[in-house]
Amino acid sequence: MGEIVLAAKVTHVPSMYLSEQPGQHHGCRAEAIAGHKEIGRRARELGADVALVFDTHWLVNSGYHINCSNHFEGIYTSNELPHFIQDMAYNYAGCPDLGELIATEANRSDIRTMAHNIKSLKLEYGTLVPMRYMHMGVPEEQALKVVSIAAWDAWHDLNESIKFGEAIRRAIKVSNHNVMVLASGSLSHRFSDNSDAMENMHRWTREFDRQMDIRVVEMWRQGHFKEFRTMLPEYAQHCYGEGGMHDTAMLLGVLGEEYDTPAEILTEPFGSSGTGQINAIFPL
Ligand SMILES: [Fe+2]
Repeated sequence: MGEIVLAAKVTHVPSMYLSEQPGQHHGCRAEAIAGHKEIGRRARELGADVALVFDTHWLVNSGYHINCSNHFEGIYTSNELPHFIQDMAYNYAGCPDLGELIATEANRSDIRTMAHNIKSLKLEYGTLVPMRYMHMGVPEEQALKVVSIAAWDAWHDLNESIKFGEAIRRAIKVSNHNVMVLASGSLSHRFSDNSDAMENMHRWTREFDRQMDIRVVEMWRQGHFKEFRTMLPEYAQHCYGEGGMHDTAMLLGVLGEEYDTPAEILTEPFGSSGTGQINAIFPL
C-alpha cells in the first residue's frame, strides 16, 4: 500500500537560481531555498521515494498529461526567462509505474489522461527548480524519483482538476510508493510590466493581489479549505493565477473534500517579479 507522506504548495521562481550565482542577486532567495531544502528533508525522513510535481510551466491544451519517463537528464535553459535560468544541469530517475497507475485511475473516472514515457519529452522548470533544491547536497541513494504532471491546463475546468487530484490520491494508495506531492506554482501571478521589472524584483505588481494573497494564506493557516475551494475560480481569474491555478486545484483534490488542517507556512509570502510566492506544507 502506497501513501502520500507530504503535501505542499511550493514556489519555483527562477530568481532562486540567480540567488545561487555571484553578483547583484546573490542570496536574494535564500529563504525560499531553505524552505525547499526543509521540505525535501522532511519528505525523506517520512520515507518518500517519489516526488510528484504539478507543474504550472507545462502548458497543455487538451487532456491531462503525466511525464513518467524512466529517466530525466539534461542541461536546461528557460526559453521563457533565459536571463534567469541558463545551463542548469539535472539528472533524476523517473517512476513510470506510478504515472501509469495515475492515468489508469483517472481514466476510470472519465478524466481523459495520458501517461508518457518519451525520452525527448523534457521537464519544465516548475519541476526542475524545486527538485534542484530538494536534492541539493543529498546523497545519491536518498534521491527521489520524479514524476511531473502538466498543470498549466489552458482550457480545463478547475473542478475537473480537483477530481483529477482525487484520482491521484486513489492511485497512490494502490501503488507501492511513498509520495511527496507538490503543487508548484505561485499565489497571485501578475508579472510586472517590462518598465517596472527591475523595481518589482522583490515586490507584488498590484496591492490588490498582495492583499488577496495575505488573506488566502490566513485562510490556509486557519484550515478554511472549504471556503478556499469555493473562491478558487475567482481568485485564479482576478489574480492571474499561474497556469489557471490548476496545481492548487489538483492539490485540493489530493487533500480531499473534508480537509481542514491548518497549513504550516515554511517560507512566508514574498513578492517576486510582481507575483506572490510561498512554501507551505499541508499536514496530513
Ligand atoms: Fe512560474
